[in-house]
Amino acid sequence: SLYALVTLLLAYLFGSVPAGVLIARLYGVNIREVGSGNIGATNVLRALGWGPALVVFAFDMFKGGLAVLIARALGVDGWLLGGVALAAVLGHNFSVFLGFKGGKGVATSFGTVLFLDPEVALFGLVVALVVIALTRYVSAGSLTGTSAGLVYAAFVGRPAWELTALALLVALVFWTHRENVVRLQQGKERRLGEKADRKP
Ligand code: G3P
Repeated sequence: SLYALVTLLLAYLFGSVPAGVLIARLYGVNIREVGSGNIGATNVLRALGWGPALVVFAFDMFKGGLAVLIARALGVDGWLLGGVALAAVLGHNFSVFLGFKGGKGVATSFGTVLFLDPEVALFGLVVALVVIALTRYVSAGSLTGTSAGLVYAAFVGRPAWELTALALLVALVFWTHRENVVRLQQGKERRLGEKADRKP
């Protein structure tokens, strides 16, 4: 329906706002030319340190969370609500403000799932933090944490629309991390907080 289309479009626009690009620009840095070149909090940490990185994480997380929260308040539920979560993350990953390029969608996925199913989001977060603490690879934490959230949701018998949305979010995270996966396999991935060099 038209209503569903407008809802999804608004969620996409919410997700499209590239916090990392905007915050780094305030510091005179083009985040897409530093470190991994990604616009996310992990790369902002390399370029600018913890303060700006936490602001970017919170912003990217809440733009996804807010999209779900507002949709819910308007009575959206089930498959369309799952679609809202996906649309927000697609906005972040393929932003209309960045020529349909963008980030890797971890913070935004976390924010949407936090308001979709907090138990699943927090389970994934704990797994991610443990893996990051053990390996110092944020990408490894992102891949395992999001996957663990999906497995947990399936294990506790969440409805089909939610499992479908989660599975698509995990698929997107693996897709956007394909270069990270190669670097991890080659032992060339940047460790957490390693200072940024210019993008190779
Ligand atoms: O969420 C992004 C993180 O998993 C990897 O970021 O900059 O190391 O590619 P980055």
